[in-house]
Amino acid sequence: MSPNTTRKSTVVFPDRQSLAEGVCQRLVEMVQEAIDRQGRCAVTLSGGTTPRAVYARLAEKPFRSQISWSKLHLFWGDERGVPPDHPESNYRMAKETMLSHVPIPEKNVHRVPAELPPREAAQQYEKELKAFFAQKPPAFDLILLGLGTDGHTASLFPYSRILAETGKWVAAGYASEKLGWRISLTLPIFNAAKQVYFVVSGKNKAEVIKKVFDLEKPDPALPASLVHPSSGGLSWLLDADAASLLEGWEEV
Ligand code: 6PG
Repeated sequence: MSPNTTRKSTVVFPDRQSLAEGVCQRLVEMVQEAIDRQGRCAVTLSGGTTPRAVYARLAEKPFRSQISWSKLHLFWGDERGVPPDHPESNYRMAKETMLSHVPIPEKNVHRVPAELPPREAAQQYEKELKAFFAQKPPAFDLILLGLGTDGHTASLFPYSRILAETGKWVAAGYASEKLGWRISLTLPIFNAAKQVYFVVSGKNKAEVIKKVFDLEKPDPALPASLVHPSSGGLSWLLDADAASLLEGWEEV
């Protein structure tokens, strides 16, 4: 992976559940530190299926009571171009697993208005981010990301036009007939984060994890490799299945 100032770490957990537990422990600690430091914390959630276990666990003991939900603001790194009650909605998944079960104020949940036409949704979301961050480039305290088997992350797909977007904070793009329209934060926003956690589990991700880890430099064929916060931290939190093709990693 590219030599840069990013503080990179990789932790391998025995299985999916211990990975979820480990992510929650790290997230709760990071959230509290941010609130102690600046009075609030801004976390960007990822979509897909992997984070379900993390979100459900955050809504349970002991983590539920360890988070100052009134000072935590949640955003999404990307959203499908569907309404919030659609089965494919990343917001709906987070609501079902976590948001409906924790005392987070509604005003602290900043979902993408994906019921709007995609480009309008992206513009509206960018306005919301600019209001929250008072026009300064957003430095999210933590951005959670997943990894697709093709090396995509959020809705940054291989060789997609959004990879070259540097002016907008949020962009809309038609991913494919199968994936439809997506609204996603852009790379400069991911790379302005104070901390990024890639959370990856499952045997089906072992090959792409090895490809990404074996890269000498970032590659648009594997967009996840383009995420390396310029001054923030980057952690790869994996289960043993996802890390199974990496040599010499000790499980925690
Ligand atoms: C999405 C996510 C996407 C996801 C990966 C991995 O909207 O689907 O943002 O980038 O993180 O596709 O998905 P799984 O966790 O389902 O393997």
